[in-house]
Amino acid sequence: MIGRGEMRRACFCAAAVALFLISACADRRDEAADGKTSGAQAGESQYNVTLWPEIETPDLTNAETEARIDALLASMTLEQKVGQIIQADSSSVTPEEVRQYRLGSVLSGGNSAPGGKAYATADEWLAMADAFYDASVDPEGVETAIPILLGIDAVHGHNNVIGGTVFPHNIGLGAARDPDLVRRIAEATAKELRVTGHDWTFAPTVAVPQDDRWGRTYEGFSEDPDIVASYAGVIVEGLQGELDSEAFMGPDKVVSTAKHYLGDGGTEGGRDQGDAQASEADLARIHGAGYPPAIRAGALSVMASFSSWKGEALHAHRYLLTDVLKDRMGFDGFVVGDWNGHAKVEGCTNEDCPAAVNAGLDMFMAPDSWKGLYENTLNEARAGEISEARLDDAVRRILRAKLRFGVFEQGRPSGRPLSGDETVLGAPEHKALAREAVRKSLVLLKNNEGVLPLRRDLKVLVAGDGADDISKQSGGWTLTWQGGGLDKALFPNGESVFDGLKAAVESGGGQIALSENGAYDEKPDVAIVVFGEDSYAEFQGDLDNVAFNDPSGEALAIMRKLKADGVPVISVFLSGRPLWVNPELNASDAFVAAWLPGTAGGGVADVLFRDSDGAVNYDFTGRLSYSWPKNAAQTPLNKGDEGYDPLFALGYGLTYEDDGSLPALSEDSGLDESDKGTPGVYFAGGEFAPSIKLMTGADVSSLSEDGGAVSVRRVDHQAQEDAIELSFPESGGAAALASGEAIDLSRETVGQLELSFAFRAEMFGEGAMDIGVLCGEGCAGMIDLGDVLREGEGAGWRRMRVTLACFADAGADMSRLSAPFAIETHGAARIAIADVHLVQDANGVKDCGLVEAN
Ligand code: BGC
Ligand code: BGC
Repeated sequence: MIGRGEMRRACFCAAAVALFLISACADRRDEAADGKTSGAQAGESQYNVTLWPEIETPDLTNAETEARIDALLASMTLEQKVGQIIQADSSSVTPEEVRQYRLGSVLSGGNSAPGGKAYATADEWLAMADAFYDASVDPEGVETAIPILLGIDAVHGHNNVIGGTVFPHNIGLGAARDPDLVRRIAEATAKELRVTGHDWTFAPTVAVPQDDRWGRTYEGFSEDPDIVASYAGVIVEGLQGELDSEAFMGPDKVVSTAKHYLGDGGTEGGRDQGDAQASEADLARIHGAGYPPAIRAGALSVMASFSSWKGEALHAHRYLLTDVLKDRMGFDGFVVGDWNGHAKVEGCTNEDCPAAVNAGLDMFMAPDSWKGLYENTLNEARAGEISEARLDDAVRRILRAKLRFGVFEQGRPSGRPLSGDETVLGAPEHKALAREAVRKSLVLLKNNEGVLPLRRDLKVLVAGDGADDISKQSGGWTLTWQGGGLDKALFPNGESVFDGLKAAVESGGGQIALSENGAYDEKPDVAIVVFGEDSYAEFQGDLDNVAFNDPSGEALAIMRKLKADGVPVISVFLSGRPLWVNPELNASDAFVAAWLPGTAGGGVADVLFRDSDGAVNYDFTGRLSYSWPKNAAQTPLNKGDEGYDPLFALGYGLTYEDDGSLPALSEDSGLDESDKGTPGVYFAGGEFAPSIKLMTGADVSSLSEDGGAVSVRRVDHQAQEDAIELSFPESGGAAALASGEAIDLSRETVGQLELSFAFRAEMFGEGAMDIGVLCGEGCAGMIDLGDVLREGEGAGWRRMRVTLACFADAGADMSRLSAPFAIETHGAARIAIADVHLVQDANGVKDCGLVEAN
């Protein structure tokens, strides 16, 4: 029998003449050729499939597996097949529904864990895994019940379980340039996933980020496709085991996903879920680099990207999904969608998207939309709008992955070998591995006069808001989707950077003090300032430029004060990307890029301090895997660019052997005043964001800059005149923070962000007071909050939060806001407003007007 790899090669080989080969080629094309998509077919001049590598694919298909699939397919009803290609989120589906609809998979999104929480303990996860598994194998009403695959984002260790080992985010691993390390991390992660009953992780991310404004830059190993390619295959092997070996899909292995296919790191402006305009050659060479090694290693799934290529959504990109990935590159696993990513396809909604299936998507990720999607997809399959051949192919691919995983033989999650074994979670060898990874990921950017490494017997001051914050040092995708702000107690197997520094200093007879704001009584010999970006994930981390905006607002002042006091300053910078930090570099004697190290904060001290005998303990070996900008406007910035002129080039990284002195750098950010706004902040510290103006009028449809009816004056909130007081007349009036450009908050709305503002309710007459957003002529989403606000009359400053979805419910088109904040009254009122910005949802509940202390 001829292998599929050979078949594929023959398809592209003009010399293939044997009849059975020709018919095999025809079959393969038929599998995907039905239905209408906007993508052109291979062979049309617009595309050039020869730009993509033909891969000697490992045979995921073998006669035995395919025969089993044939038998399964023959026993499945149409309903069951449609269920098989749909994945729901654990917080939006019950086990009973999984049984009833015969869904193929359940995932837990970054904020979805059992018990309505964002994260859980191993026990809780395992109980959930059992419940969904049991439902899926319930034989009632079907000829063959097919076990689900339970998926989760273990993207830097098993990051949604309390006690899991959290490794450095991929950007740090890229700096380590160590494929073997990365393989061992993948192996450890797979083991930890097995403890909680998970079968599948949505990793590795093989994006090749080209514009560091992208909020997912840290999920990529490097801007350099070669580095990404050197890791992609070994991670797949670490997670799944080496293909064709005993280890493959053994009891300590899980299914992997290479994501996000394709061009996720190449979108214009670094916009998450945006559009990539790369040429096909660059798409293949740069963004495609991780896929051939992942496919060769036997990756059982690939995730389609939220993004588009030249305006065409990847979720229904027939050419890239089918002609390139499956036919040319020979991928025999299944393509899973991203979180309602199919809705990005023109003509599709969350609940309806035949074009995606027809183009080659095999499994929908339909977190909360699965039921409607099931009904519509079933109808479309019945009507032939989705062909039987294409549906069967999608199911075949999913079953192939399930069979290679051994889903029928695995049994109930809690009965599997590593299940519930909490000694594996955060096991000492995993912690040691994480610490090794942290050491290897650190990049030394400056070391004037060889101030590092430090002796252990010094008097050390540790400052900065990142010093003793495991949540911050771990970044997004850590216990919660966005990460950050979580108590240290939630990381029982974690160590903050400070914990490690303390252990090192105390072991060497020194003294150490933690003082977040850098104040001290007794002058220290040296200060270590740990600071950096606050956590974020996905689009919430997108930036307009690559300036570092210190969320603490203090780091630079702390450094300058210490320096003025004659205390040498060692800076440890926590970030998900290179950012323009010239002022901080100038204020530091030594500067370490530590990325997002995860729970093994002790790795930092291992390198900063000498050993107890005074010798170098560990030298720096990390090298930048992204180019570092000279000014805040210098992006995109990638090695190989014409006129490439970074501050530190790709590959830069000092060792203790080097002369690490760095002359004073320019502190001109290179930005115009108008570039300096922070996304999501509309009014702060008394300043309006660059594109925002206060407008008033008799009602929301008649606003202008001097709209008479409402009187406005400055009052104090936390600083002098940092608030505006609005007095509305008897006849009512309106005020808005109007934007010069339309603001698109649709993604923020999906992501459950909230509008937050401080207010002081001073006087209320009769009549409602509506708060909301405006979206151009005749478009608004206003909510009556008069009663809520009135309750606070005379109570001083308080804060209100409104989940953005409430405005959408009230009729706003969140994709084109003309004012992200508006007030309208129908009677006399006086209210002061300050500090209007977007915040992450704090409690996972939709609040249409929650008042809290300011
Ligand atoms: C992300 C994916 C992730 C999925 C499931 C999406 O929003 O883009 O990377 O795997 O959610 O959480
Ligand atoms: C989920 C994430 C997902 C995101 C997509 C969040 O609510 O928890 O897993 O990636 O939504 O928008």
